[in-house]
Amino acid sequence: MMFPVAGPRLPNQPSCFLFRPRSIFFRRIIIWSIRNILRQPLLGRRPSGSENSMRIAMIGAGYVGVTTAACLAELGHELVCYEIDTERVARLSAGELPFFEPGLAEMMRAQMGRGRLTFTASLENAAANAEAVFIAVGTPSAADGDIDLSFVEAAAAQLAPHLPHGAVVVIKSTVSAGTARMIRELIAEERRALDVSVASNPEFLREGSAIADFMEPDRIVIGCDDPHSEALLREVYRPLVDRGAPLLATSSCNAELIKHAANALLAVKIGFVNDVADLCEAVGADALAVAEGIGLDRRIGKAFLMPGPGYGGSCFPKDTRAFAAIGRRNGAPQALVETLAERNERRKAAIARRIVSRAGLTRGSVVAVLGLAFKANTDDVRESAALTIIETLQRQGVRVRAHDPQARHTAARHLRDVTFCACPYEALKGADAVAVLTEWPEYRELDAARMAEAMAGDRVFDFRNILDPVPMAAAGLVLQRVGNGTDERVRAPQRQHVPGAGVLDRRVAAPRDL
Ligand SMILES: NC(=O)c1ccc[n+]([C@@H]2O[C@H](COP(=O)([O-])OP(=O)(O)OC[C@H]3O[C@@H](n4cnc5c(N)ncnc54)[C@H](O)[C@@H]3O)[C@@H](O)[C@H]2O)c1
Repeated sequence: MMFPVAGPRLPNQPSCFLFRPRSIFFRRIIIWSIRNILRQPLLGRRPSGSENSMRIAMIGAGYVGVTTAACLAELGHELVCYEIDTERVARLSAGELPFFEPGLAEMMRAQMGRGRLTFTASLENAAANAEAVFIAVGTPSAADGDIDLSFVEAAAAQLAPHLPHGAVVVIKSTVSAGTARMIRELIAEERRALDVSVASNPEFLREGSAIADFMEPDRIVIGCDDPHSEALLREVYRPLVDRGAPLLATSSCNAELIKHAANALLAVKIGFVNDVADLCEAVGADALAVAEGIGLDRRIGKAFLMPGPGYGGSCFPKDTRAFAAIGRRNGAPQALVETLAERNERRKAAIARRIVSRAGLTRGSVVAVLGLAFKANTDDVRESAALTIIETLQRQGVRVRAHDPQARHTAARHLRDVTFCACPYEALKGADAVAVLTEWPEYRELDAARMAEAMAGDRVFDFRNILDPVPMAAAGLVLQRVGNGTDERVRAPQRQHVPGAGVLDRRVAAPRDL
């Protein structure tokens, strides 16, 4: 479709040009007006605010819902966030963030102050006049590892009666391939007269760096099955795309699969390097050096090649289980990911047994656990390795004292009989061994002499490789790092002569507990 553009008149130009503006100023006004007129019927009512401002409803005010809402408001849109938990709505409305995420509380309060972000317990109010309704509710694991879509389905069913004409439903939650199409049918059943668009817009933010991940994304993926939803989502993300963020527009099914496959591949990297770390311990190598050497290959990259106690969090464990289940359900087994998910869970329990055996712990021994969150800069303990490790230690009669700078209260909801301490040195008091499970920056700064003074024993298990071995050794502590076969336990390969059998290499066996 061609539109008249002001400019020098050509010999056969149509007579629809009523006047010929002479100045650049007039041309700009005309182009701006045409653009705005064209946008009106497609995207509906423009609220007051910036030129590109859109009215958006968010369903679900968890990590993803609040982060997305605050960031979209920061980009100039007008956000109303609906949450089913009324207590959470009250706290958010008072400017209180119910979880820890660096910088988010400040951004949220700033946008609330500008009137661009509100929270409500009324879905009707949230949906009224919305051009887009994002669904960001939880998608936990079902008993068979597949995704439990019941929260997404319930949200869509509740939304259907309130959905304005022309509004696009955008699924932000991580869902299985085909969900957007299924939700479209579900809403169409409820509202036969409504022509519904349902799109997929998976979220890739990481807790702890959520704002930066949203504002400077590696990519924005929009999965749209019709031009209306694609135009709308392009408009939503225009401020980020204008700043250089790559946007991939594809089908809803592709977008849904991109999210799951990406998380599965990242988890595979972690699982792989954890296995490599065990091998390093067995042969007397250092996993950090090996990982660096692998990661320098640009085809592989350094990210996610850090050995640890097993991945946790709200995404990787459930998303890998779901990816495997989706494969099974569709007759396309994802054997690699299937094995990975199971090995990762076994690793967490094995880490606890490793602490007990290597430190020679018995019933009544005390272990100090430093770090409960599944990673630093969050208070999220969902499927955190620390929970499994602590429970396994307790089953062996070990008493646990724990510290975490942010996750103490979230962890306390899941754990029994743990002594939570306000500072790391307090957790170390009388401990026979200490296990560092989360890479909080403050643990890097721990004073080895103070640690040794507080502890009853001398064993330090660093499952994040953040402690400096030199001061530890100087303070008389025995440091064991993950994947480091040069620590005291592992001996170098020995050559042994067996009469009549030539020369054999005898290597230290791989740790039996992993
Ligand atoms: N947390 C992350 O780091 C992350 C990153 C990317 C994607 N995701 C995905 O995003 C989705 C949300 O994750 P999250 O961590 O924000 O979950 P969350 O549990 O923190 O938040 C979900 C919120 O939705 C609310 N809710 C549930 N049903 C509702 C309904 N019918 N109406 C209104 N509110 C409702 C819950 O009360 C809760 O506050 C999941 O699918 C997750 O896999 C999460």
